Amino acid sequence: MPEDPEDFLLLNPGPVPVTDEVLQSMAEPMVSHRSSAFEAVYERAQDGLDYVFTRSTLDGESTSEGGTPLILNGTATMGMEAAVANLVDGDAEVVSLVNGKFGRRFARIADRYASVTRVEADWGKSIPIEDVRDAVTDDTDLVTIVHNETSTGLLNPVAEVGEIAAEHGARFIVDGVTSIGGDEFRIDDWNVDVAITDAQKALAAPPGTSAMYVAEGVEDAIDGESAPFYEDLDWHLRKAAQHQTPFTSAVPLFRALAVAVEDIVEETMPARIERHRAQSRAFREGFAAMGLDLFADPEGSTAYSNTVTAVSLPESIRGDDATDFFDAVKARNVSISGGQAHLGGEIFRVSNMGRLPTEQILRGVRTVGEAMDDVGADVDLDAGLDAAADELDAEADAVEA
Ligand SMILES: Cc1ncc(COP(=O)(O)O)c(C=O)c1O
Repeated sequence: MPEDPEDFLLLNPGPVPVTDEVLQSMAEPMVSHRSSAFEAVYERAQDGLDYVFTRSTLDGESTSEGGTPLILNGTATMGMEAAVANLVDGDAEVVSLVNGKFGRRFARIADRYASVTRVEADWGKSIPIEDVRDAVTDDTDLVTIVHNETSTGLLNPVAEVGEIAAEHGARFIVDGVTSIGGDEFRIDDWNVDVAITDAQKALAAPPGTSAMYVAEGVEDAIDGESAPFYEDLDWHLRKAAQHQTPFTSAVPLFRALAVAVEDIVEETMPARIERHRAQSRAFREGFAAMGLDLFADPEGSTAYSNTVTAVSLPESIRGDDATDFFDAVKARNVSISGGQAHLGGEIFRVSNMGRLPTEQILRGVRTVGEAMDDVGADVDLDAGLDAAADELDAEADAVEA
C-alpha cells in the first residue's frame, strides 16, 4: 500500500488507475457465473468491448461488423497463446515481428505450436517493411505483431503488415494490449483476424482478465482441439454467444470490466483517442524540452506510441545508478517503470492509459524532472513543464472549439 493512497499516482504501463465506480463494482455480493445476473454483466461488457474493438477511429465509424468480442479469465499472454494455438497446428508456418519484449513473447508462444520465422529489429527500432515482405510467403499460415510495443514506446505499422498477410492469405493476429481503448485500431481495414487486449491497460479495469475480438468468418478456422483445454476458443465462442465462459468466470473482474468499458462508451473513442494523443505528446515534448532523449526511434510508417512513453536515462545515472533516480520518484508517491530485460537501468517508461487528469500528466513530468535533479542529472524542469502544458492547453482549446 502506498504511504498516502489518496495522493498516489500510478504511471506504470499497466495496471493503470481505475475509477471508484470500477472498484466498488467488485464489492457487490457474489452471484453464480451460470445465473442470469452474471449473463447480464457479461453482455454489458461484450457490448462495451464491441464498441471499443470496432469503433476505435477518430470519426467513430465502425471498422468491423459481425465479429465476436469475448472475455478470458487470464491476462493477455493467455489471449495471445489462445489465438495462436487455435489457428495453427504443428505443421504451420508463422512469421512473428520482434522489436521489443512483447513481440519476442509472441514469437516464443508461437514456437510452442508451429515453426516460426522471426523478422527482427533492435528493440525500439522500426522493422523495415521490406523485411516483412521478404519473410511472408504463400506458405505462411499466420503473422503475429504487437501494435504498441510497451517495452519501447514504439507503434508498429499494423496496416502495412496486415496488407502483406492478406496478400498471401495468412491469418493475422494483433496484440493491441496497450493500444486498444486508447488509440486508433481498425479491424477490417487492417485485415485483423484476431485482436487481443488486456483489462488493466487502456481499458482501465483491474488486472486478471483479457479481451479478444474474433473477426467475422474466423470462427470457421478455429480448431479448439489443437489448443490447451482451457483455451479452446471454439468452446469460448459458443459460450460467449450465451454470455458465459466455459469454466467459472472471475465474477468481480467481469463486473469491473463492464463498468470500465461503459465509461469508454460514454467518453466516446474519438474523444479518448484525441486525449491519449495529446497526453502522450505532452509527455514526449515535456521530457524532450527538459533535455532528455526519447528511446524509440520510429522510421517509415512506425510512430511514437500514443499511450506509453519510453525515455533514455542520462548516461550519468544509467545501470546501478538508476536506482537512486527511481527511489527519488517513489519518494514523491509516484510509480513509474524501468526498462525490461536488457533495457533495465537504461530507460524509464510512463503511461497515459486510462483516464488520467491533465494535472497528473504535469505531475508526472515534474516528478521526473525533480527526481533527475535530486540525482544530479542536468535537466531544465521549467522548460519541460512549459512544453507539456502547451500540448495539454492546445488539446483543451481544441475540445472547447
Ligand atoms: C504489448 C503487451 N502485450 C502483452 C502483454 C502481456 O500482458 P500480461 O502480462 O498481462 O499477460 C503486455 C503487458 O504489459 C503488453 O504490454
